[in-house]
Amino acid sequence: MPATVISGKEVAAEIRAELKQKVEELKKKDIHPGLGVILVGEDPASVSYVTSKAKGCEEIGIYEETIRKPADISEKEVLDLIEQLNNDKKFSGILVQLPLPDHIDEEKVVNAITPEKDVDGFHPVNQGLLLRGEKCPLPCTAHGAQQMLLRSGNDPAGKHVVICGRSNIVGKPLAAMLMQKAKGANSTVTVVHTGTKNPEYYTRQADILVAAMGKPRAITADMVKGGAVVIDVGVNRIEDPSKKKGFRLVGDVDYEPIAEKASYITPVPGGVGPMTVTMLLYNTVEAAELINQ
Ligand code: GUN
Repeated sequence: MPATVISGKEVAAEIRAELKQKVEELKKKDIHPGLGVILVGEDPASVSYVTSKAKGCEEIGIYEETIRKPADISEKEVLDLIEQLNNDKKFSGILVQLPLPDHIDEEKVVNAITPEKDVDGFHPVNQGLLLRGEKCPLPCTAHGAQQMLLRSGNDPAGKHVVICGRSNIVGKPLAAMLMQKAKGANSTVTVVHTGTKNPEYYTRQADILVAAMGKPRAITADMVKGGAVVIDVGVNRIEDPSKKKGFRLVGDVDYEPIAEKASYITPVPGGVGPMTVTMLLYNTVEAAELINQ
């Protein structure tokens, strides 16, 4: 039987409705979540991400400001701007859209954001808290993947989760999240990466397989156990002359044959993608609540 498709759009809409209600409740207590976004330069993909973040904020009632700066801004000016936002009560969350131009040290910039307002969950203090299983803003895409599992009735507790990819944004934080002795986690986690010999040996054992390597359709059907839950985090452009734009988006898994074999699968587009901005909104609301406690 073909797999049940877990729609990121539907799960995201469900979470956004909950957040909208929460924001209304917070506002009654005079707590006003706010997001400050810093966009350096005019990279079209970054502009598009930032626009969807602003739209999301508007939808659920979060105050939002996008501060646009030219690509030749100095590192010092960016750091000063962050300091200003760190001290501004209007903002419970701060996000610097990445990538930054080469002359700006991204690590320095991420580290300058006060950890309480780090709604990306990229600050090393938050990474440390995550590893220790303590409360912190969770990296949005990893958190989105976990929510898709939970809200489709696939609690990872006791399951063998195999994560392909060890990025700081998805693979590592998701592994740290799902290995915790905590609700919605408590899994046995294996991380497969470019240094793994015979990755298929591990992927075939996965009850839950997460593909987050950034390699178009690299996970083939023979690498997947029948009945597995497959979460595809990849978003890759591949040439397609039949499309107006000349390309289409595919994930890291070979979708059609795997959908015949898996029990659940997330599509690309419309899977994990829409969850990232939603979990950013979640972190912004949570931060407002925590800062005001
Ligand atoms: N650029 C691409 N994805 C992201 C993200 O999740 N956060 C930030 N800050 N920049 C990005």
